[in-house]
Amino acid sequence: MSAPTAPAQPATSPFNRNHPFSAQVRENRFLNKKGSEKDTRHVVIELGSTGPTYVCGDSLGVLPRNPDRLVGEFLGKLGLSGDAQLTETITAATVLNRAGKKFVKMAAEKSPASPGRDRLQEICADEAKLDAYVADRDAVDVLADAPGLQVDPAVLPSLLPKVAPRLYSIASSPDHRPGEVHLTVAVVKYTTHGRPKQGLASGYLADLKPTSTVPVFVQPTRHFHLPSPDSDMIMVGPGTGIAPFRAFLQHRKHHAHPGKNWLLFGDQRASSDFLYGDEFSEAQKSGHLHKLSTAFSRDQAEKIYVQHRMLQEGAELWRWLDRGAYFYVCGDAKRMAKDVHTTLLQIIATHGGKTPEQAEEWLSVTFSKTEKRYLKDVY
Ligand SMILES: Cc1cc2nc3c(=O)[nH]c(=O)nc-3n(C[C@H](O)[C@H](O)[C@H](O)COP(=O)(O)OP(=O)(O)OC[C@H]3O[C@@H](n4cnc5c(N)ncnc54)[C@H](O)[C@@H]3O)c2cc1C
Ligand SMILES: NC(=O)c1ccc[n+]([C@@H]2O[C@H](COP(=O)([O-])OP(=O)(O)OC[C@H]3O[C@@H](n4cnc5c(N)ncnc54)[C@H](OP(=O)(O)O)[C@@H]3O)[C@@H](O)[C@H]2O)c1
Repeated sequence: MSAPTAPAQPATSPFNRNHPFSAQVRENRFLNKKGSEKDTRHVVIELGSTGPTYVCGDSLGVLPRNPDRLVGEFLGKLGLSGDAQLTETITAATVLNRAGKKFVKMAAEKSPASPGRDRLQEICADEAKLDAYVADRDAVDVLADAPGLQVDPAVLPSLLPKVAPRLYSIASSPDHRPGEVHLTVAVVKYTTHGRPKQGLASGYLADLKPTSTVPVFVQPTRHFHLPSPDSDMIMVGPGTGIAPFRAFLQHRKHHAHPGKNWLLFGDQRASSDFLYGDEFSEAQKSGHLHKLSTAFSRDQAEKIYVQHRMLQEGAELWRWLDRGAYFYVCGDAKRMAKDVHTTLLQIIATHGGKTPEQAEEWLSVTFSKTEKRYLKDVY
């Protein structure tokens, strides 16, 4: 077995979060079908021959902008619409979909007397109340509690949270589609205080039309590389966690890697949420995807998740690991990756004939640290 090799990275890229590449959107399509509760997008961005380059496993950094309608509503309520420079600064450099504490405190102090202001002052005097207040409000929600607030436009941008880039796991192989980068984006949408809201970057990407420009840079992965061509790999990627594995599979097909590939995918419903389902069925038919296990959580009364499929196929999964397979996990860090880890331990103990302590030692030392066969890209 040979260790995963970091593919040769190009010389330092001239593009980074401070100097992004202005790329063009080529495609923005829905991945979920009718009946889905989710909005996941396949976004194709053109890097051409002058943009940043990447390898499978890297992420794309995106510098988001606030939607025009939200900026218009916010500045309109403050009586500041019509100032083009201020509008651009608020759009590109600040965050409006969350109420920053600095802005709330200023509103509590500076707005004219009203029951709303009294309430804001009471909230600002108690850090726990302030945490709860800002958790589900945006900047426009705050203005509803501070009627008549007037703000000096020169200081307004500094009162709002500063924008930060968001990362998206790259879902394409640069060799399969040169000059393009593909993303799999779950659009964050929710309604609080009577107003629909969306995630800053996922909403920005969802709103982009073909030919619009998007500032991007590549964030190289330090560890999430493909294994050597002859190594087998197991990939666990529910939801948007599928992104890097689509890239890995494209790459292995393009270069005819002989290693075997087992993909475990999960999402809510088979009929509407099997992201790239057609591509994976095709890869199975053509022999590039050797095993596909799916877990559709809402197709039956009991939840079925990827880790339940792992357990059902525990004996085979252990055989793959024992024979040198790499184990990759991508997607939700808070719940999924933890549950997958616990399940992996259970499988190693049961099918590898180890005590819980030996399983822990094998997973964390031999498998992860020494052989570097347990690789995670979780967020
Ligand atoms: C290495 C890496 C790779 C990633 N890859 C991908 C990927 O391939 N695809 C992908 O989709 N994402 C990926 N992400 C996540 C991505 O970077 C963003 O975090 C995600 O898109 C959300 O960002 P946003 O700007 O849209 O949302 P934000 O504006 O940051 O909003 C998210 C916040 O909204 C608030 N919120 C959400 N729901 C509610 C609610 N119901 N009520 C009240 N408040 C709520 C919460 O405060 C939440 O933290 C990755 C992250 C990392 C670090
Ligand atoms: N850290 C983060 O901020 C973060 C990380 C990942 C996703 N999200 C948010 O979640 C939304 C959708 O993300 P996504 O499309 O990537 O999919 P996801 O929400 O992670 O869901 C994918 C599948 O995983 C299932 N699942 C839920 N809990 C699980 C667990 N403990 N173990 C294994 N599987 C589990 C889900 O089932 P059920 O839904 O039926 O329970 C669903 O079938 C987005 O709005 C995204 O922003 C946020």
